[in-house]
Amino acid sequence: MTEPTILAIESSCDETSASVIRGGKVLSNIVATQAIHELYGGVVPELASRAHQQNIIPVVTQALRKANVTKNELNAVAFTRGPGLLGALLVGCSFAKSFALGLGIPIIEVNHMQAHILAHFIDEPKPTFPFLCLTVSGGHTMIVRVNDYLDMQILGQTTDDAVGEAFDKIGKMLGLPYPGGPMLDKTAAQGNPDAFQFPVGNMPGYNYSFSGIKTAALYFLRDKTKEQPNFVQDNLADICASVQKTLIRTLLKKLVQASQDLGINEIAIAGGVSANSGLRHTLQQYAQKHNWQVYIPAFQYCTDNAGMIAMAAHYQYMKGEFASQYVSPEPRLKI
Ligand code: KG4
Ligand code: ZN
Repeated sequence: MTEPTILAIESSCDETSASVIRGGKVLSNIVATQAIHELYGGVVPELASRAHQQNIIPVVTQALRKANVTKNELNAVAFTRGPGLLGALLVGCSFAKSFALGLGIPIIEVNHMQAHILAHFIDEPKPTFPFLCLTVSGGHTMIVRVNDYLDMQILGQTTDDAVGEAFDKIGKMLGLPYPGGPMLDKTAAQGNPDAFQFPVGNMPGYNYSFSGIKTAALYFLRDKTKEQPNFVQDNLADICASVQKTLIRTLLKKLVQASQDLGINEIAIAGGVSANSGLRHTLQQYAQKHNWQVYIPAFQYCTDNAGMIAMAAHYQYMKGEFASQYVSPEPRLKI
């Protein structure tokens, strides 16, 4: 088989992204972040769809240009089918279908969460199978056993909120700009992680619960502010560091348990929260302690991007997994 050249589109949330991959090598990865949501402190689905409509053609044009590839050289068009926001997914899906139809080439539907994990195969070093991947984003928190490129099994997951949501909502309570995760991370670097204690729910097996810490933080801040009106401003770095430490410890506790139970020492992290510097640093420490081989993606492949969609599409193309023109987005698509 000749080395396929694929255009991939990501539009599941608030990033419009396009990438070109050839023979498994990512040639371009253009990401347009939608700043409009900052005004509202969270993603507004209808505004996300409209921004995707405005961004998609310029982003695709740039991705093709950067890769030095013309549309007639493409062998397939891939897109994120889910999980994500329906209206946002519809833009990428409809664009991919019509572009491919016009060019007379097949389409490939990609699972966004699988793609986050397959981002590990864009650059060296690449994990060997089987490996465990802590997959942490704004909508998901799970430990996945990865047996092969397209063979993955969820071992445990959150029973309520995702860890990214906990970062974002607590960030919002502290007055940090949306999304709270990156700013909370930055502020935490100057704080004492042992300054305050926050409780987290302990779920059975490899499952998580992150709704309790949100409520705990809310009551903690309300009570402290009553005693001391400037409490947040005066202790911002310590609060961020303490919250971040609690979230990271909780994530890694179950990962250690899964690694020991299954005897798997190849450990990866993926998804937006894998950009967290505290998580990246602590994982390196755990690597030494538990004799793990750890894999941490480059920043550009942690948060939403089409490079990872392109990587997944490459493996699907090689297996002949194409979608029908009747495919529609699936906001709750499972791994
Ligand atoms: O994977 P992603 O870009 O989108 C989803 O698929 O959800 O993840 C977005 C999430 C947001 O919750 C964001 O706050 C979080 O990833 N995030 C971070 C950091 N960078 C992004 N959380 C903590 N620390 C960071 N540095
Ligand atoms: Zn994502």
